[in-house]
Amino acid sequence: MTRELSTSIPDDGGRPSPICVVGAGYVGLVTAVGLADSGVQVRLYDIDQERLTQLRQKRSPIHEPMLEQLLGRVIEQGRLELCSDPVVAMHGAHVAMVAVGTPPLADGRADLSQVRAALSSVAAHAEPHAVMVIKSTVPPGTTQLLRPLCRRNGRQLRLVVCPEFLSEGSAVKDFHHPPQVVIGGDDRAACERVARLFEFLDAPLLITDSTSAELIKYGVNAFLALKISFINEMAQLCELTGADVESVADGVGADPRIGRSFLGAGLGFGGSCFPKDARALDQAASYHGHSFWLLRAAVEVNAQQRSRFVAKIQKALRGNLSGKRIAALGLAFKPGTDDVRQAASIDVIRHLEDMGAIVAASDPVAIPNATRVLPLTEMFADPYECVRGADAVVVVTEWPQFRELDWTRVARMVRRHVIVDGRNCLDADAVVAAGFTYISMGRATRRPSTKAGVAVEKQAPAPPLVSIASE
Ligand code: UGA
Repeated sequence: MTRELSTSIPDDGGRPSPICVVGAGYVGLVTAVGLADSGVQVRLYDIDQERLTQLRQKRSPIHEPMLEQLLGRVIEQGRLELCSDPVVAMHGAHVAMVAVGTPPLADGRADLSQVRAALSSVAAHAEPHAVMVIKSTVPPGTTQLLRPLCRRNGRQLRLVVCPEFLSEGSAVKDFHHPPQVVIGGDDRAACERVARLFEFLDAPLLITDSTSAELIKYGVNAFLALKISFINEMAQLCELTGADVESVADGVGADPRIGRSFLGAGLGFGGSCFPKDARALDQAASYHGHSFWLLRAAVEVNAQQRSRFVAKIQKALRGNLSGKRIAALGLAFKPGTDDVRQAASIDVIRHLEDMGAIVAASDPVAIPNATRVLPLTEMFADPYECVRGADAVVVVTEWPQFRELDWTRVARMVRRHVIVDGRNCLDADAVVAAGFTYISMGRATRRPSTKAGVAVEKQAPAPPLVSIASE
């Protein structure tokens, strides 16, 4: 199909429309659907025909609350077109937004090959005044380096970067309520054109240079990862001193300079973003001659949390896991998603299976994805079936459904009454009342009392560093 190429696109100060979004993955799909729903005409371009077919049938390829409803609506309203041809996708487009994957290379650097290919393919068909936008997460300096790919008929197309802040499981909500809109580039008018796309949102706007915008994206994820690893180290200290990490997090997080969010102690961070971005930022720092020790420590602490959790399970079962049946509640890297990339579940379950345990797992939505990477694990959609005959129940993902389980019923189905909660998410009183020993992260173990009431395990903390008597 050939279309006439218009020579200029007037910048009339209105919202740019139509636009092209390249990549129907997590970020691209949510962004395209969100912008289409806000009134912009969006062409969503992808090279994956299967994915496009599924989308045309108004089915979302990812589990994300609200996404499928919105997808159906914008397709019916004709605001979202699904394109497999870059010529069609770019015809008259004022903006082209590249939102393709930047998976890790073996050494942790971000693989930019998809970004390069996607950018080249749309730049080749862009109108001369179109603005190219990098939405993918790219290392500092990348957007500057990509400029040569944005030449069309001897003319330089304008290129800016606009990082995303969507979290899986709440991506549609986050799209409508972002903490900020960040746009980086040398050309102020190009940045402002992209900003107008998001002007319907009630969010602060930050326009800066492209490298700073790229570092803001990494900085947010890296800092949140540091927060998680910080509270997990504090959890260690809580176990050693007899303190309770949930109280500590409440108190530390009450200081508005710190904040309570991302102080959830447990199995640490997983997913397709924090682990990948932390390594990529570390690699970028090394490339520029700087060792980012703080970030490396956060990654190391995060890895240790998974091993510590397995050690807790092993200790609870008196050291020998061979032939023991363990029921794992949760497979997704966090609630609200079916994504198991870099999920704690994968490491923990593999580790348990390597030690001879038989693992049964349950998750509301992530079983199909997890089955591909955990071939030995028995999968149960019904958590009550999963716990049948278990020597220990271990909580890996804090789905609200697990908190609501009938623990008296669970108690009747298991072989031993042991729960190891890797996310500190269960109601300790409820599970102990049902007869379980409740082991969690950074808190005292609680055991059911033979008489009325509940026994809290004596922690036998180390003697205090400063003796009061000697003062
Ligand atoms: C993260 C960021 O939160 C988003 O802002 C960002 O846009 C996204 O990465 C990205 O770069 O695309 P996401 O990975 O979807 O989003 O999920 P988070 O809610 O941030 O959780 C990440 C991991 O940290 C999860 O494994 C979660 O279980 C863990 N976590 C989170 C904790 O262990 N403790 C907490 O207190 C919070």
